[in-house]
Amino acid sequence: EDTLHHLNFYLRRGTTTAIIGQTGSGKSTIAKLMLRFHDVTDGELTVCGSDVRTITQQELRDHISYVPQKAWLFSGTIADNLRDGKADASDEELWHALDVAQSGFVRELPDGLQSRVAQGGTNFSGGQRQRLSIARALVRPADLYIFDDSFSALDFKTDAALRHALQTEVADAAVLIIAQRINTILTADQIIVLKDGCIQGLGTHEELMRSCSAYQEIARSQLREEELAELTGEDREQVPAADGAAMKGGE
Ligand SMILES: Nc1ncnc2c1ncn2[C@@H]1O[C@H](COP(=O)(O)OP(=O)(O)O)[C@@H](O)[C@H]1O
Ligand SMILES: [Mg+2]
Repeated sequence: EDTLHHLNFYLRRGTTTAIIGQTGSGKSTIAKLMLRFHDVTDGELTVCGSDVRTITQQELRDHISYVPQKAWLFSGTIADNLRDGKADASDEELWHALDVAQSGFVRELPDGLQSRVAQGGTNFSGGQRQRLSIARALVRPADLYIFDDSFSALDFKTDAALRHALQTEVADAAVLIIAQRINTILTADQIIVLKDGCIQGLGTHEELMRSCSAYQEIARSQLREEELAELTGEDREQVPAADGAAMKGGE
C-alpha cells in the first residue's frame, strides 16, 4: 500500500523547508525516496532537474547529504567518522563542522578528533551522537542537506544555536528539516504539515497559524500560551531569548 499521496512541493536552494507530522505520517519515507532507498510507485521526484530514478545512488550522494533518523556511528575515531563523506577533509574542516554542529564537547576530550568511537557510538550520549552525525553531514559538500529528526535529542538552546549556525554554513544549498517539535521548524521558509501521508498545509508559520487547523493543533499542544500570543502577533522580537537569534536570521 502506498504511504504517501498527492505530494507536490519544491526544495529550493538557499531556503529551508521543514516537514512536521506525527510518527508514521510518512516524513522519513520522503527522505528515503530522495535517496532512493525506495522508488516512487507513481509520480516523479527530481533532483537538480533529473528524475531520481535516472541517477545512481552514488551520484545522488554527491548531491545530497543526509542525516538519518537513527544517528549511526561506526567504530574508529571521531575523525574517521567525520571523513566518511569526504575522505580528504582537513582537520580544520572537521573542527569547523563540529563547531557548527555545536559539538564543543569534542574539544574537551583528551584525544580530540582521534578519540575512539565504539561500534554504534555507544560511548557517547544520544545528543552527542546526533551532533556528530550532523557534523559528518556538514563535512560533505552538497546541494541538499536532509536532517531527519536530527535535532530531537538536543535541548532547545542547542537546537536554536545549531540552526542559526547552519543558515550561513549551507546558505547556497537547499535544507530539509524533518521534525516533530514545532520549535525546531518555526523559522523555516516553508513548512509542510504531513498527516497520514498527505499534505495538510504548506506555508510559513504565520500562514499555517491562520489557515491550517492541523498545524494550529500542533502549535497549541506544544507552545505555551504566551509563546503562541507572541508568535502569532506582529512583533516577533518578543520571542524567548533561546530562539531569538535563529528567528531573526530566518526572516
Ligand atoms: N520499509 C517499509 N516497509 C513498509 N512500510 C513502511 C516502511 N517504512 C515505513 N513504513 C510505513 O510507512 C509509514 C510512514 O513511516 P515513516 O515515513 O517512517 O513515518 P515518520 O517518519 O513520519 O514517523 C508508516 O505507516 C510505516 O509503518
Ligand atoms: Mg521518521
